[in-house]
Amino acid sequence: MVKPLVAGNWKMNGLTADLATVREIAAGADTITRQADMMLCLPATLVAPGAEAAGSSALAIGGQDCHAAVSGAHTGDVSAGMLGDAGASAVIVGHSERRQDHGEDDATVLAKARAALAADLTAIVCVGETEAERRAGDAVARVVSQLNGSLPDEGTAGTMIVAYEPVWAIGTGLTPTLDDVAEMHGAIRAHLVAHFGTGEQMRILYGGSVKPGNAVELMGVAEVNGALVGGASLKAADFLGIADAYRA
Ligand code: 13P
Repeated sequence: MVKPLVAGNWKMNGLTADLATVREIAAGADTITRQADMMLCLPATLVAPGAEAAGSSALAIGGQDCHAAVSGAHTGDVSAGMLGDAGASAVIVGHSERRQDHGEDDATVLAKARAALAADLTAIVCVGETEAERRAGDAVARVVSQLNGSLPDEGTAGTMIVAYEPVWAIGTGLTPTLDDVAEMHGAIRAHLVAHFGTGEQMRILYGGSVKPGNAVELMGVAEVNGALVGGASLKAADFLGIADAYRA
C-alpha cells in the first residue's frame, strides 16, 4: 500500500500575508484524519516562514526548483541544500513551466533531481505530454522518454516521487479521461517497477486542474497516489477539500 501525498504548488504566488493560508492549511491538516500526507511547495521567499508557520503540524513544506550545483556563481539561483536549510523537506524539479520557460531538458532535470537527493530532499520529478503529443498518440512514449532521462538511478520510494502533469491540463480546467489517467499511471508504474527496486512503492501523483469537485474520481484511479495541485492550493478550503478525497 502506497501512502498518498496531496501536494500544493503555489508557483509564483504568495506574500507574507499569505502565511495565514499556510497556517489555515496546517491546522486543517491536523484536525481531520486523512490517509494522505500533505505538503505545500512554496516560492523560495516563503519556504522559511512557511516552515515556521507549519510548525510541527502534519503539513510539510517544499520548494519548487533548485540548481544542480551545491553552491557557486549562479546569481539568483537557489540550491537544494539552501531549501533544506530553510525548512523544506522536498523540491519539485522539471515542472513543465520550467521545462518551457527556462528551456530545461531531461538532463538538466536529472541533475537537479540528483542534487535534491544529495541534499536529503525528496525529489518530486514532473513529466507530462503536450496537447500536440497527446493528439498525435505519443503521450505515453513521450512520458516514458522523460522518465528515462529525468529520474536518477539512486532514487527510492522514500526519496523520489513522480508527478504526471499533462501540459494541456495545467491551469486550463481540462483533465484527461479517467481511462487516459489509468493508462498513463499504469505505464509509469511499469517503468518504475522495471527500473527501481522500490518502484512498486514509489508515489505517482496526478497534476493538472485538480479541484475539490474532481479529486475523488481522479484519486480513485489505479496507480494514482495523490495529487500535485496548482491553483486550487492557493485557497485553504479548496486544498483541504481536495485532501478530503483521502478522509479516513
Ligand atoms: P493547476 O492545478 O493550476 O492546473 O496546476 C497544476 C500544476 O502545474 C501543479 O504543479
